Amino acid sequence: MRTLWRFGYSARLLKTNHFRTAASNTSFPAVWMLLAQNSGRIPGPFVVVRKNAFSTMPETVEDKANPELYSPHPGVRGMTLLNREAFKRTVVVPALKVKKEIVNSLLKSLKQSVLQRPGLKRVVEDPEDEDSRLVILDPHKIPGFSLGESEQQVLKELSVDPEVSRYNLELTYENFKSEEILRAVLPEGQEVTSGFSRVGHIAHLNLRDHQLPYRHLIGQVIIDKNPGITCAVNKTNIIDSTYRNFEMEVLAGEKNLVTKVKENNIAYELDFSKVYWNPRLSTEHGRIVELLKPGDVLFDVFAGIGPFAIPAAKKKCRVFANDLNPESYNWLLHNCRLNKVDTKVKAFNMDGREFLRGPVREELSKELPLMKEEQKNAFHIVMNLPALAVEFLDVFRHLLVGEPCSAAALPTVHCYGFSKHEDPAKDIQERAEASLGTSLDGRCSTYLVRNVAPNKEMLCISFQVPADVLYKRPCPDEAKPASKRLCTSQGFSEEKLLS
Ligand SMILES: C[S@@+](CC[C@H](N)C(=O)[O-])C[C@H]1O[C@@H](n2cnc3c(N)ncnc32)[C@H](O)[C@@H]1O
Repeated sequence: MRTLWRFGYSARLLKTNHFRTAASNTSFPAVWMLLAQNSGRIPGPFVVVRKNAFSTMPETVEDKANPELYSPHPGVRGMTLLNREAFKRTVVVPALKVKKEIVNSLLKSLKQSVLQRPGLKRVVEDPEDEDSRLVILDPHKIPGFSLGESEQQVLKELSVDPEVSRYNLELTYENFKSEEILRAVLPEGQEVTSGFSRVGHIAHLNLRDHQLPYRHLIGQVIIDKNPGITCAVNKTNIIDSTYRNFEMEVLAGEKNLVTKVKENNIAYELDFSKVYWNPRLSTEHGRIVELLKPGDVLFDVFAGIGPFAIPAAKKKCRVFANDLNPESYNWLLHNCRLNKVDTKVKAFNMDGREFLRGPVREELSKELPLMKEEQKNAFHIVMNLPALAVEFLDVFRHLLVGEPCSAAALPTVHCYGFSKHEDPAKDIQERAEASLGTSLDGRCSTYLVRNVAPNKEMLCISFQVPADVLYKRPCPDEAKPASKRLCTSQGFSEEKLLS
């Protein structure tokens, strides 16, 4: 899985109130600009510039005059339908004439100064002498076409004539990077993106309004420049559907959105237009699965296509996985079969609340009374629906009846949430407490998963469901006046007030 866009966030366990991801939101490739002279006036493939003229000072006059000679032909500005031919242009670069036999030694010794560019030959035929070759140099490294002292020294040692020639180098669409192409096409001064998130053969873009007129061209450039990408889609709406999948438009390439991905060495198949998949969650999936031991039980309330459930089952955990989206449920079943864990995962297609009140309650009611102190198997409940999951926590209030199990056996919840609060850890803890009706002070940990947008964090709060929340206890003082009751049908808020 390769994710190229808005990646690089660090995740940290939070016990304190102070954290912020420092990583940038983008990972655009740097613009590659080489400086050379205007090609129109130079006849032939190359001409000699000067003999034995050496300088260690850059000649910035030429550089300033042509700051972007390595960008595509300026005529492509405003293009909306990709015409690859129109990107061609000729630039003048420094070259050294060298005897065939010493080309390799020269390339080795002048590695730093030789031109490195996608799809471009560093050594070309010499049209005037079949026993010689022209070694193309990087104009950035040879400013003003003048060799520096170290280069002169190398040439002296190899007995190469230090004459620098001007070589007319033809650049085509193939030689430009996506960012350079898009910068040349889109209106000057506006933000260019060549970044995307990769899901199998699909490049998933999130274009800004000003980029939309160029969207089909942008999609095609991404396909051309990234091996393995055969389809480019753009998110057309914010992710607000119940099933957390995106509305999207295919910008270029094949229309097939059924794809294969690999995450933490496990293969999944999915229809990207119908189910949720986010390649930026692989570390988080791995982190949670790492907490599980063989024999543990995992309840995955919002399971998607199985990125917690399947690795957990592979780890020999017993898994109950649920998703409300029938498409997710079907792909979950498919991926369980694909990974040969279909006998270890019980899949459900219901609302998360009903899943907790039904299969989860049933299993916990059956298993928890059997748990002994020394028993090591644990129960984990994963709730990854960050926009809403915290509000589902009230389901745990009095979910079970009877004598509470041992403290060690109480299920551990890993609940995800977004926060735009200046202290996101405090914010998610307070919201979880409000939903559960009890304080989690000193009995929860909060983990920063990733920065989703400027000032929007995704967090995971983990805690063992307190016994006094989970169990409905007999209420001995039922006869007391309502205001003095320690136990109420709503559980703990009133009890807390009185204590
Ligand atoms: C953010 S995705 C997480 C999927 C998966 N756990 C992952 O980490 O990639 C949330 C999932 O919850 C499902 N979902 C949304 N509302 C739900 C509900 N009320 N009950 C159960 N599942 C729901 C969506 O279909 C989606 O697959």
